[in-house]
Amino acid sequence: MKKILVNGGKRLEGRVEVSGSKNAALPILFATILTGDINRIENLPDISDVRLSLEILSQMGAKIERVSNTTVEIDTRGVRPGESAYDSVRMMRGSTYILGAELGRFKYSRVGWPGGCDFGVRPIDQHIKAFHSLGAEVKNENGYITAQAERLIGAPVYLDIASVGATINAIMAACGAEGQSVIDNSAREPHVVDLANYLNSCGASIRGAGTAIIKVQSEPGAHLSGSEYAIIPDMIEAGTYMIAAAAMGGTVEITNVIPKHLEALTAKFIEMGIEVEEGDESVIVHGGRGIMHNTNVKTLPYPGFPTDMHPQMTVLLCLANGLSHMTENIFENRFRYVDELARMGANIRVEGRTAEIPGPMKLTGAPVRAVDLRAGAAMILAGLAAEGTTTIENIESIERGYDNVVGKLSSLGADIKYVE
Ligand code: EPU
Repeated sequence: MKKILVNGGKRLEGRVEVSGSKNAALPILFATILTGDINRIENLPDISDVRLSLEILSQMGAKIERVSNTTVEIDTRGVRPGESAYDSVRMMRGSTYILGAELGRFKYSRVGWPGGCDFGVRPIDQHIKAFHSLGAEVKNENGYITAQAERLIGAPVYLDIASVGATINAIMAACGAEGQSVIDNSAREPHVVDLANYLNSCGASIRGAGTAIIKVQSEPGAHLSGSEYAIIPDMIEAGTYMIAAAAMGGTVEITNVIPKHLEALTAKFIEMGIEVEEGDESVIVHGGRGIMHNTNVKTLPYPGFPTDMHPQMTVLLCLANGLSHMTENIFENRFRYVDELARMGANIRVEGRTAEIPGPMKLTGAPVRAVDLRAGAAMILAGLAAEGTTTIENIESIERGYDNVVGKLSSLGADIKYVE
């Protein structure tokens, strides 16, 4: 079994380049189904969730040509609906996007119940509500979700929760509807905007992405065509390296980022006394200059503090001076990593949705487990900051979403490697 081993205490210095965004790449890869054409997608992260998405597309009849580690050509002319394999889609949350893409193009979709990181119950009622609003019938039977309609008709779609997945699925299905759809209470995350930009580059008419009201106009019989599109940088990967720099001192430049997407984290850094310099497409974090103050963080939909930065931020708060709080408002149970941090000497108390973090704490290396993707990133960060050696198992979770994390951190001076 492959593990990651980290010897803590090394200062980080240098430059690290961020890869393409996982949470933009997955919907865009599945959205190529809507075009029934040849697409060239660039700046893909080299991560296992992308490899799995390409495998699923190929099971469905797409022709995939790998141009490089970050670029792929996808021909979706031969895709047949309902062909994604149950065992593949159950491994990844992003497979819900097959529903919207198949329904939009074929007016029929059949997909196994999606998997993904375990943060408690992860319902898809809002996705189903959106499909209903556009005139589809949706069934959940024998482990599969089936959605179908003779025609999809543009309509108002109101989401009770500003869900990223439901917003993206609503946009994709609406691209195959006749007339105008108005998606109210849409998620505003940058990956929703990127998906809309990709579809617009294919000829779709989507306005308002990045706001709470998204309008999709689609004419009867209209077809999208394939396009060439480069995915935006991954704001969560960028934020993870920002935290690594802040935790370990030294000056680290993080390149290929959109600084605006990092504002929630940058604002917290400033509050904590950590120096951040913003460039056009980079941020520089000066760690270790002065005392790191405590703060309170609440996860919220974009532009609030991202839930996908929660476990990593908790590690930083362990090192800050004074009592901090981390409140999780998006997922039911994202605190499973706290038990793993306890193995490293962290003294964190969770009450309901809030963790109390009395810093500064001394962390010590220990054998730990990556209980999910971002929890795994938090274990790496804790390992960097701890005294002694940390070994992390279940690293497949980390490889789902971090491109070459061991290589990138090593290049900054971390003592980190794979071991069997
Ligand atoms: N929710 C519902 N009903 C629905 C859909 C969502 O109740 O039909 C609830 C969820 O249970 C959750 C909240 O709404 O409490 C928000 O969920 P959302 O649908 O926004 O999340 P998602 O689409 O399942 C994506 C990312 C996650 C990220 C969240 C929030 C992908 C593939 N996943 O999940 O990414 O945490 O948005 O920003 O894009 C990660 O990258 O580590 C990750 C987990």
